[in-house]
Parts: sequence; structure tokens; C-alpha cells
Amino acid sequence: MIADTKYIGKSTRRVDGIKKVTGQAPYSAEFNPADLVHGYVINSRISRGKILSIDSDKALQFPGVREVFTHENIPVEVKIDSDYTDPLSPPGNPFRPLNDENILYNGQPIALVVADTFETAAFAAGLVKVEYEKEEGFEVDIRKNLDIATTEDVPDPPEPRGDAKAAYESSEVKIDTEYYQPREYHNPMEPFASVAIWNKEDESFTIYDKIQGVSSSQQYIAGVFNLEKEKVRVISPFIGGAFGSGLRPQYQLFMAALASKALELPVKVVMTRTQMFSFGHRPACLQKIKLSSDKKGKLRSIQHQAFAETSRFEKFNETVVDWSGLMYQCENVALDYQLVPVDVYTPLDMRAPGGSTGMFALECAMDELAVKAGIDPLELRLINYAEQDQNEKKPFSSKELKACYQRAAEKFGWENRKPEPRSHKKANQLVGYGMATGVWEAMQQKSAAKAIFTSEGKLSVSSGTADIGTGTYTIMSQIAAEMLGISIENVEFKLGDSTLPQAPIEGGSWTASSVGSAVKLVCKELQKNLFELAKRSHPELFENMLFENAIFENGEVRVGEGASVSFSEILAVSGQDQVEVEVNSEPADSRSDFSCYSHSCVMVEVHVDEDTGMIQIPRVVSAIAGGKILNPKTARSQIIGGITWGIGMALEEEGMMDDRNGRIMNANLAEYQVAVHADVQELEVIFVPETDEIVNPLGAKGLGEIGIVGVAAAISNAIYNATGKRVRELPISLDKVL
Ligand code: MOS
Repeated sequence: MIADTKYIGKSTRRVDGIKKVTGQAPYSAEFNPADLVHGYVINSRISRGKILSIDSDKALQFPGVREVFTHENIPVEVKIDSDYTDPLSPPGNPFRPLNDENILYNGQPIALVVADTFETAAFAAGLVKVEYEKEEGFEVDIRKNLDIATTEDVPDPPEPRGDAKAAYESSEVKIDTEYYQPREYHNPMEPFASVAIWNKEDESFTIYDKIQGVSSSQQYIAGVFNLEKEKVRVISPFIGGAFGSGLRPQYQLFMAALASKALELPVKVVMTRTQMFSFGHRPACLQKIKLSSDKKGKLRSIQHQAFAETSRFEKFNETVVDWSGLMYQCENVALDYQLVPVDVYTPLDMRAPGGSTGMFALECAMDELAVKAGIDPLELRLINYAEQDQNEKKPFSSKELKACYQRAAEKFGWENRKPEPRSHKKANQLVGYGMATGVWEAMQQKSAAKAIFTSEGKLSVSSGTADIGTGTYTIMSQIAAEMLGISIENVEFKLGDSTLPQAPIEGGSWTASSVGSAVKLVCKELQKNLFELAKRSHPELFENMLFENAIFENGEVRVGEGASVSFSEILAVSGQDQVEVEVNSEPADSRSDFSCYSHSCVMVEVHVDEDTGMIQIPRVVSAIAGGKILNPKTARSQIIGGITWGIGMALEEEGMMDDRNGRIMNANLAEYQVAVHADVQELEVIFVPETDEIVNPLGAKGLGEIGIVGVAAAISNAIYNATGKRVRELPISLDKVL
């Protein structure tokens, strides 16, 4: 039993905040072991073909250069066989740098120059002469290659239900539309970086790596170098943003490890900003949607088909169309998801992968249907509200989406929306209101945690998870402090080290749920241990008492209104320095009878300048149903981050490809535009109360991704409401609006 909540659900400052703002939080590139040397990666300038030769002589003669690693001189043991399958990779042949002379995409890493300083390595990279044999006919545009779209090795979307085609044909109101989203890039502030240290004596690695899960890098390096897992220690205490880009180890990790082992020196490899555009990205996606309803707006059919980009060598896939079978009550649904392989590197999960893509199309299409039927867009969502998950035929563990709609509408003033485009003006600005629904799965993974409570009253809790900026350190400390009834200042949470109990990679918005549940459980076990000790140390107080009635508060345990004893005294009398417990937590079986999702309603006001087409977003209201909110402060930050990104997705972000050479043209932060301060005005986040006893022992659903879902659709719909122009291709730039 725990007393009144002190930390869970309370706004709590980041426990690592001071370290971060004072520069004491070390990121991977900031570890500088003795004798460190630096690697600089050379990337391919062609899209498809072969390396004929790499001439490193000039570079090697340059003072300070140690070695140039290429496919010609790295040990064969670290190259992959054609039948090798990598447990972390999507289906296909996993890519490994420097494997052979073949070029699979522009930007492919083809050599590593190692020198005494980064600058020397970078300069010497310019002295390396590479000759290529170009293969003609590379492709980088999925829209020109729909004829090779495939469903092979792609998980099937939910089975069709009813007869969507027939229902569509016989419906009174219908729309048939198409949306396109370009490839987008993660662009975390911190570039990818690894410092690898090969320890010759015991043939082991110590590696500092930017990664969303240390066990993922550990497993990868152990696999490549044929080592026992225990011989690879990966450390990653702080991450400057990742958004999915660190769900797979990136190529600098392999390069640093390879060079460190070969040179028997610590090696650091940091990507440049431009190189941050040379690996995974959110795949380009073309979506075709047909919706139909009766005159009153009751949905009669949904057909949603998506064509998504993948590489030629792996089948990356996301959940794009399934949401259309989930979101609304509809008897006739047909979903189709296909991949289009082109000559790019394999795409990669990026914040709300698939969800932000699929819900962009579905929620724009719903708006188009609302216009066609002459029904308010919010009303249309309510008419078709799904009370159960029709894909899975299961009830929801909780779903306060109706409350989201209501709270957002009140706060936003949705009733003031003028349905007729171009009818709402402020001076030279066309004003538009738009809305969309958001959804994301509330998952839970197996996770382990350890807790040590010492006689000094300090609690140390650890799990090999990550904090990619989301606030993991803070919420885990809150949960632990709450459970033991001690001050948060006496709690230390450790993460980002492969020697700690194993946790899943930090992704999928499941860390609060998965690691949080493990932390809660391990503290519960700690309570039990302390209580057992208390029974022996203070039998007069606790002998006949039940653990269930024990209260842990103010560093003491008591039963009911009885006398209390401090934890330190219990330990002192017991003659123990500390109590230590470790647990494995996993999702409860009862969870599988339910569908667990978080939901949101996003409402947006846009102003479009009549003369210039300039779009401004004076305000966004997002009402979120995410279960228990562990820390409203960090939670709000997650959501405003998601909204901001949604603004970028709607109006700015686009990885532009040069189809003459298959190279991304705007591989820098000056030309790859993201939402910045000037683009963001009022953001209002509302957390709708939602109790969920099914989803996990904390009742928290995770908030990392739900914030972005639906935002681009709401903006697009608001632009239509303002201007009468429906732009179906992202980003909605001025030229498309004018
Ligand atoms: Mo998230 S795209 O699962 O880091």
C-alpha cells in the first residue's frame, strides 16, 4: 500500500536537467579515452554500380593519417554471407558497410579514413580517389515505379470485411482521392557517434554509442565480430534526440569498432550533419482512399491502399492502412499495403511510424467526405465513432476519445468554424479551422529492473533502457520514489549500459509502460523485503501484520495508524548494509483480450495570406487520452514536440532527390526545412482523464508518438477550410496553395 501520491502524476522537473544545461551530461561523442584516434566516413557519389578502385595512397602519406579502411582491406570475417539473417533487420539482405564493391544507393559509406584528429581525417578523405562504374537505370521515385509494387515478405493488413467495393458503388456520398508524402528525415540535434575501445587483453569491446537501446548495439557488434555478448559492453547515458533513427545501430558503430580492433586503438566516428541524411528515413508513401457514406454521414465503405518506399535489399514496413479499419465504425473495409523497392537506403521508423502517415491520409479523406456530405467534420467523427476494435473484434482497454473531441472543441471554440471556405477573413488573411483524430498503440514489452536500497537511505534503480530526451530518468525516479515513500533526491535511476538488466529498445512509445512497470514491480519487491526484515527486527510492531496493510512513507514503514520504523533502522537492526532485488516484468495475459490505444483530437487554426499564400498557424489545441499521466510537465513536452513536428510535416519537410544522380539535394538543416520558433505560436495540450486498469500496472499508455499523429491532416483540412484549395501532396508549400 502506498500513501497519497507525491510524485506520480505530479509535474516534476527533469532529474537530469541541471546536468544537461550545465554541460555535464556526456553524449557519445564526448567520451575521449587516452590515445583516441578519429574516423571520417567517405560516402558513395553514385546511386547504383560498382567501385572500380579506391586509391588511398595520397591520404596515407598525409601526416597524422593512420589507415584507410575499404572493402578491399577489412577482414573477411566481418563481411556478411549471402544467407546471413540479422535478427534486427527487416526481411532481406541486411546492409553492412564495406562489405563489397557494390553500390546500392547514393550516400552509401564506402571507406573510413582514420587519423589523429577529426580534421585531419576529414581533409585526408578528400585525397582518397574513388573510381566507379555507374549502372544506369537507378530509380528513386516510387510514383514512377508502382508497377513493381509488391506484397511479398510484407505483413498482411487486417482481412477485408463486408464488400467495400459494392458498398462504395451503391453509396449516396463518395470520395475517391490520393495523397502523397515525401521522404522525411529524423534530424535529431545530436549526430550519430560511436567511440569504440577494443581491449586486446581480454578480447572485448567497450563502446559509447548513440542508440535507442544498448542491447541492440551489443547484439549487433557481438554478431559481427563473433564475440560472446558479455564481451561487448555498450554505454549510452544521454541521447540528444533520436525519434526512431537510433532503433537500429547506424554505420558509424560498425566503422568505429572495425577500426578500433584493427588498429588496437580507441576510435571515434561521428557523422556530419550531411551524413545524417545517408541512412534511414521516413519512407515516401502514396495513398489511395475511397470512402462512402449515406446522406447522414454514416460510413458505408472504406478502401485504403498504400504504396510505400523500401530499399532494394530489405523490406521495411510500417502499419499504414490498418488504422482505417480501426478508427471508425464501418461494415465494409478493404485495406492494402504494398512496398515499392527503389535505389535508396532502407527506410527507418520515424516518430509514429506508419501512424502519422496513414492517419494523415485517412483524416484528410474524412474531411473531404464531411465536405461532400455537408456535415461538420467533428460531427462526422462522432457519427462513426467506433466503440470496439473491429479489426481485432476486441473491446478497448479504455478509450476516452469522445472526451478528447469534446474538450478540444470547447477549448478551441470549434462552434465558431465557418463551413464555407473563404468566408472567414481577418484583414488580408483567410482564416480556416481544421481537425483530425490521432491514435497510437499502447504497447508493453518485457523488461527487467534492479533496485538497491542502502542503509544511508539511498535507492538506486537500474534498467538498460534509454532516455532519448523523453524524460525516462525522471519518470522512473518518480515511480521509485513514490513506491518506497522516499524523497526523489534520494533516488538514482541508471540506464544506458548493457551490463544493466535488459530492457527493450526505447521506441514505440512503450518505455513508460514497459520499464515503468518493471520499476514499479522491483520497488514492490523491495517493499516486501524491507517488510520481512521489519518483522524480524521489530516483531513487537509487525509480527502479525500483513504486507498488504503496510504503508511506506517518509522513509519509514508502518501498519495503519501504528508506530513506524525507518528503513535505515530496519537495516541497522538486521545488520544489513543494503537490500537488493531484481525482477523481470512482462505484460499480463489479461491484456490480450483487449485493444490498447491512446487517442487524440487535434484542432488547428490557420491564416493564409490572400496575396502571398503564406501560411501561419496561430494556434493548435491537442486533447490527449493517454491513460495515467505520470508527469504532466514532461508529458506536455512530448506532445508539443509532436505538434511542432506535425507542423513541419504539413508545411515544410521534404527530402528532395536529384533524379539525375539519386542524391538527396537538401542534406543540411538550411535547406531541409523543419518547424522552428517562427513557425510555432500557441500550442495548447489537454490531458483528458482516462483510467485504464488493463494496459499495465501503471495505467500509463505512453506519449512519445501520439502528439504528431493527425496534426498534418488537421492543418491540411484547415487550409482547405480557409482557401477552398485541397492540397493532397505534402509539404503544403506556398506554390501549391496559390
Ligand atoms: Mo520510435 S519511431 O519507435 O523511436
